Amino acid sequence: MMKILTFIALCAVTSAHEISQLQVPLYADPRREAELSCHFRMDDQRLHSVKFYRDMYEIFRYNPSQTPPIRLFNVSGVAVQGGECLAASCAVRIMPPPLAGRAAYSCEVSTEGPKFKIARQTKHMTVVAMPDSDPVIVGAPKLVKPGEQVLLNCTTAFSLPPADINWFLDNELQKQEPWQRTELSPTQSGGLRASWRVLRLSVPPTASGTLRVRCEATLRVEPPVVREAVTTVTVYSRTQLSKYVSNRGTIFERGLKLCWTLLVILNFVSL
Ligand SMILES: *[C@@H]1O[C@H](CO)[C@@H](O)[C@H](O)[C@H]1NC(C)=O
Ligand SMILES: *[C@@H]1O[C@H](CO)[C@@H](O)[C@H](O)[C@H]1NC(C)=O
Repeated sequence: MMKILTFIALCAVTSAHEISQLQVPLYADPRREAELSCHFRMDDQRLHSVKFYRDMYEIFRYNPSQTPPIRLFNVSGVAVQGGECLAASCAVRIMPPPLAGRAAYSCEVSTEGPKFKIARQTKHMTVVAMPDSDPVIVGAPKLVKPGEQVLLNCTTAFSLPPADINWFLDNELQKQEPWQRTELSPTQSGGLRASWRVLRLSVPPTASGTLRVRCEATLRVEPPVVREAVTTVTVYSRTQLSKYVSNRGTIFERGLKLCWTLLVILNFVSL
């Protein structure tokens, strides 16, 4: 009995055709072609057709017994640029729609009749134009006084979708006034936009040491893309001044500290 079962199982395995690999880029840039490929194994089966779908729409069909064997279909916003097949794989090139979003791409490999058995695999591709660089913070002074207010501006590179910006002060999300929302630039080709957001940083009157200011730019796609910029701001206070004066160190270090202290005092005096 066991032997028969094993024999049946072996037959099922050896006669099965399957998709060995479906390659779909996780992210696609709307300004460039994206290539999808489907690798399959037929074993003893004869190939009837290979099809690619975008969501439920067929975009590519390879049927070796027909002329022409390859047919492309422009549907649901994707322009299908071309496609080709080898003995054990097919590839299709598409121009992703200039709309940020995610779609399911499937490959379907079918055997000849009368059975027309189907193997199918699906992967997702997200249309996103990545920013070329990290965001940039402008307006951050190196030194601030307790109680001082400074206006910082964080600007991102062009992307699709545009980045949503959040500010963090020592890792704490900063709640902001309605007029300090993320602002968008006009669109560039491919639908890309830059964004910026200001932070009115109020240095707490009791603050001392350094403040870590972080601007986080998030592209709200699935999976999300996050880039950030960090800057540190030093708060000087009267208590810190005495610490600098009383600190021990080499004569050179003490000299430097004295100069710095004098500068700070001058700054206070000029207030
Ligand atoms: C699909 O659209 C692209 C671009 O508009 C065009 O080059 C191509 O010939 C079209 N393909 C089909 C099958 O209509
Ligand atoms: C912030 O920077 C952007 C671009 O760099 C600029 O267009 C915008 O006017 C700046 N905003 C403020 C309030 O300075």
